[in-house]
Amino acid sequence: MKVEATATGKNVHPLLKVENLVKRYTKRSLAGTPEELLALDSVSFTISPGTTLAVVGESGSGKSTLANCLACLESPTSGNIWFEGKDIVKLEERACRQVRRQIQLIFQDPASSLNPRWSAFEVLVEPLILQRKFNREEIKKRVNYWLGRVGLSQDIVGRSPMELSGGQRQRLAIARALTLEPKLLILDEALSALDCSVQAQIANLLMELQGSLGMTYLFITHDLAMAAHFADEIAVMDRGRIVEQGPPNKIFIQPEQETTRRLLAAVPRIGRGDQSALER
Ligand SMILES: Nc1ncnc2c1ncn2[C@@H]1O[C@H](COP(=O)(O)OP(=O)(O)OP(=O)(O)O)[C@@H](O)[C@H]1O
Ligand SMILES: [Mg+2]
Repeated sequence: MKVEATATGKNVHPLLKVENLVKRYTKRSLAGTPEELLALDSVSFTISPGTTLAVVGESGSGKSTLANCLACLESPTSGNIWFEGKDIVKLEERACRQVRRQIQLIFQDPASSLNPRWSAFEVLVEPLILQRKFNREEIKKRVNYWLGRVGLSQDIVGRSPMELSGGQRQRLAIARALTLEPKLLILDEALSALDCSVQAQIANLLMELQGSLGMTYLFITHDLAMAAHFADEIAVMDRGRIVEQGPPNKIFIQPEQETTRRLLAAVPRIGRGDQSALER
């Protein structure tokens, strides 16, 4: 695959390269006739290993549709998704399962994505058991390692996810995703439901994991300040298209699109001329 120069200045093979991705949904109009909706309209971008791309956009702009296509939860209508040089859109089911392990998705509300009837321990071991590659000892070792790594105490393993705080639940969801040692973590509004201080703690945890493990993130948010804090590059989506992309400084100082200006206006400190959101 072509070696590309990225905005971060690194000449490396992209971990992920998305080319002309299109997703069409058919929905019923009020009159009952089928209507086409273009949720992704020729989306293209690349992410280098060990970097973060933030995708920002208003509600309905296509962010989750993009995340679901990348995590193989939805099939795109057309286009290519190259992951480590393989087009995962065209993979057979078995090969696709292997790639799926490498791309993990974390949602906004861990309460809805974690089975409330399970204990935290069951939540953590399920992906490992499904892999059928690890014995009991290895599974226990991995679970203990990742609990510690995300800052959760061993005491929580017997509790249901519902008995944990929002921050603990999101740490549990991150630990569950990381037990499989993925290369790409997609965070779809993963911090949005948390209190400010918990948001900051989890953001720091994600940055620490990126520093030590070389994780690559696709960070989806409607919050431009959070995107600037986190990302090497920001891509702005509007009605299914990436309308503008660049490093946080450029997006904040020279926004080119109306939708970007609206997102900037929603960042209170920036609205008052404070640039501290750009400090990483
Ligand atoms: N399964 C589906 N069937 C039909 N239309 C869908 C489906 N999923 C999403 N859409 C539509 O696709 C468009 C993009 O939705 P998407 O959920 O990707 O937006 P989003 O940017 O994630 O929004 P939000 O910030 O509110 O989460 C919306 O118009 C939505 O109604
Ligand atoms: Mg969404």
